[in-house]
Amino acid sequence: MKAVQVKAFGGPEVLTVVDLPAPRPAAGQVLIETEAAGVGGVDTLLRSGALADFGYEPGRVLGNEVAGVVSAVGDGVDASWVGRRVWAFTGMDGGYAEQVVASAETLVPLPAGVSAVDAVTLGTSGTVAHFALRHVHFARGERVLVRGAAGGIGVLTVQLAARGGAAAVAVTTSSAERGERLRELGATHVLDRAGGGAADAPASYDVIVDIVAGADLPSFFARLAPKGRMVVVGAMGGWPPADFGKEMIASFQKSMTFATFSADTVSAPDQRAALADLFAAADRGEVKAVVHEVLPLAQAAEAHQKMEAGEVFGRIALTHD
Ligand SMILES: NC(=O)c1ccc[n+]([C@@H]2O[C@H](COP(=O)([O-])OP(=O)(O)OC[C@H]3O[C@@H](n4cnc5c(N)ncnc54)[C@H](OP(=O)(O)O)[C@@H]3O)[C@@H](O)[C@H]2O)c1
Repeated sequence: MKAVQVKAFGGPEVLTVVDLPAPRPAAGQVLIETEAAGVGGVDTLLRSGALADFGYEPGRVLGNEVAGVVSAVGDGVDASWVGRRVWAFTGMDGGYAEQVVASAETLVPLPAGVSAVDAVTLGTSGTVAHFALRHVHFARGERVLVRGAAGGIGVLTVQLAARGGAAAVAVTTSSAERGERLRELGATHVLDRAGGGAADAPASYDVIVDIVAGADLPSFFARLAPKGRMVVVGAMGGWPPADFGKEMIASFQKSMTFATFSADTVSAPDQRAALADLFAAADRGEVKAVVHEVLPLAQAAEAHQKMEAGEVFGRIALTHD
């Protein structure tokens, strides 16, 4: 079966299509004939070697989420999964392949109206968006700001906040055209990356979901209203300044919360339940999978180039020729 391997750390060109033996499901796992694989920002970091310190080595197959049909089960897994259309999380790697094994614990059945491409566009990103908002106790009537809203996680955070009854959903993005597309998803105010460009935007926010971090993080933290909560889920803009901690402590009179969030800290049953709800909402047309482009598996390098050039609005999915 065909798969895309990271031959060595480097640019998108190191992604190589190889023929590998079909994987076999171990106890607790299923084998999936994939129809689509998601392409996430973390894949580009794994490919470049930026996460080598976390034990990631070249020679592995990229991709952490797939959708397809279960074709076999390992010991201890209910055989009725065979033949079902599912979304699955494959862990750090394995997804850019015609066949993958995944833990049966991660499987979420797909409603008839949710395609495999939609599923890998909604899956990991939607899980992060949903639980990040919960992590900071987002409630109806609150003012929300989403930083880095045009990416995979952002487009879903905007939709979930709007659907959850936010009083305002402000977004940061790099172009007016992206801003218009974000308004179609529920954004009410469009800011530039530095947080300017919208005179009528709220002066402060109850909740900030931040996918960017970086040098501007303190200036956004300062926009929290009293009792406001900021959650950082990504660092597309790099690390904050070293003295950020001082600014946080100095603003203690506003009783603000600074949080980080990783989907790794959510239990498998909770993730499955949230994703099943999200797929059902997509099936009813209440949430939109924002698919930037669908490319064949063999063009995974092109997908990475586009991601790194900042061209992607929403997510790219890989399918088979
Ligand atoms: N917490 C978790 O459980 C979890 C799970 C998966 C991934 N992640 C993390 O989430 C991040 C990827 O999120 P994603 O898939 O949504 O990313 P993405 O699709 O690449 O989008 C991020 C958006 O941020 C904006 N951006 C990029 N660089 C920026 C910069 N230097 N300054 C300001 N804005 C910038 C871009 O929009 P504009 O050009 O429109 O500004 C881009 O569309 C990674 O850091 C990854 O490690 C976290």
